[in-house]
Amino acid sequence: MQSPRRFFIRTYGCQMNVHDTQKVANLLHHHGYAAAAGLEDADLLIVNTCSIREKAEHRLYSDLGVLRDWKADRPGRAIGVAGCVAQQEGDQILRRFQQVDFVFGTHNLRLVPSMAEAAAAGQRTLRIDANASLERFDFPDRHPAFAAGTPARAFVTIMEGCDMFCSFCVVPHTRGREISRPAAAIVAEVESLATRGVREITLLGQTVNAYGRHDLRRRPGAGADTVGFAALLRRLAAVSGIERIRYTSPHPIFFDEDLVRAHGELAELCPHVHLPVQSGSDAVLMRMRRRHGADAYRALAERLRRARPDLAITSDLIVGFPGESDADFEATLQLVRDVGFVDSFSFKYSPRPHTPAAQFEDAVPAPVAQERLEALQALQRAQTLAYHRSRVGTRTEVLLEGASRQGAGQQAGRDPYHRVVNLSAAAEVMPPPGALVSVCVVEATPHSLIGTLDLAKTADSARQPLKNGAGSADERIRSVVAGG
Ligand code: SAH
Ligand code: SF4
Ligand code: F3S
Repeated sequence: MQSPRRFFIRTYGCQMNVHDTQKVANLLHHHGYAAAAGLEDADLLIVNTCSIREKAEHRLYSDLGVLRDWKADRPGRAIGVAGCVAQQEGDQILRRFQQVDFVFGTHNLRLVPSMAEAAAAGQRTLRIDANASLERFDFPDRHPAFAAGTPARAFVTIMEGCDMFCSFCVVPHTRGREISRPAAAIVAEVESLATRGVREITLLGQTVNAYGRHDLRRRPGAGADTVGFAALLRRLAAVSGIERIRYTSPHPIFFDEDLVRAHGELAELCPHVHLPVQSGSDAVLMRMRRRHGADAYRALAERLRRARPDLAITSDLIVGFPGESDADFEATLQLVRDVGFVDSFSFKYSPRPHTPAAQFEDAVPAPVAQERLEALQALQRAQTLAYHRSRVGTRTEVLLEGASRQGAGQQAGRDPYHRVVNLSAAAEVMPPPGALVSVCVVEATPHSLIGTLDLAKTADSARQPLKNGAGSADERIRSVVAGG
């Protein structure tokens, strides 16, 4: 028998892209492909790209240079390009890079098996058409080869696209218009994941808490399947076996009272919100078209904390946006302090195609932007460490994910606040990945907490090991995750 063709997917960008890679991998399994252990072993390579900043986009071009030789090394090899750069550049990629066999956009994941077949037959294809149909969300159930690696955590897409058009952002151009998936399909997927041992879900969408808003406006009260985000959370919290729910990324303007209340009421909803703010200056926020000011954001953080006092808030910030003055930047530092972000991702502004900000004058000189980035990151590091120190001596619950990056036999997982916790214990008593364990926090480091296993309090330690384990299929395909 001929051995199956082997694929390898390199992923850049946000969690949505990581999850798209999982969907593509699952589809390829269903079409008779097997996962390659690495590039050397692969016949089909797919680069799932990100365009959020110029640097992310350029990763594709430097990869493609090296991949020309990879392809030439063995006959029958093929290269596909997916994701946001594929959507943005389309046929330019095919034209500029002869080594690329096919290009497919963010609405066309389901076409990957047929495009890979065409490539095997020597044809080059491009599919980047917009697809506003809900079929876009339909993927086959996890293939056994893929399901075998189902870890205790899973992503679930609930909406895609973005209608916000922030002036700096390429995403509305690469992901297209906002579209929400029917609630019944989401609940069914989550129920199916729960039966496979998934205990934590992360709901995904570019503006995830805008879920359902267009459908509700078009069809107010139309049937039980049109619900808002908070109502969806309540339904998912009721699914048996689901113990943790997270979501990313919400937009500040879509927190209604029901959603704030849900944070106080739903035990399954983790006490962490990643809430991008971008800037602390009203003038900059206005030019960014974020549709809220700095004080509205402070007030939202307060409302959320009133509902859930221990809530950990993290954020995304941009420095060096055109026209950003020293005073504007100071306002950003002040907001970071006032809200007390537990962590944040910060980026230097990067002009993107099709975006209005790319035409703005008053660019901030690169060295100034760099200085601001460093100052902001120094402040955040200090805040993160202070937060970690405040946790020492407390108890927390960790969902074990597998071997820690620290090595030395340590295991790692995340607590409900999304902090990485490393723990060591004798191999005989260490529960398997997928177990929820009680942990005493004994030490704080800048990037993680260190804990000791509290077996007496770990109701879960006797839990059956899940069929997975570290190095699951999901982890293997997550070869490179950058930025986002
Ligand atoms: N959908 C999410 C985030 C999308 S992109 C949201 O609306 O919040 C992730 C982060 O990348 C953004 O929050 C922003 O901080 C950053 N980003 C987006 N466009 C950028 C640009 N042109 N330059 C620098 N950073 C950018
Ligand atoms: Fe949409 Fe977020 Fe980009 Fe704004 S920053 S356009 S909300 S994806
Ligand atoms: Fe696209 Fe996500 Fe990057 S939406 S541009 S892959 S951050």
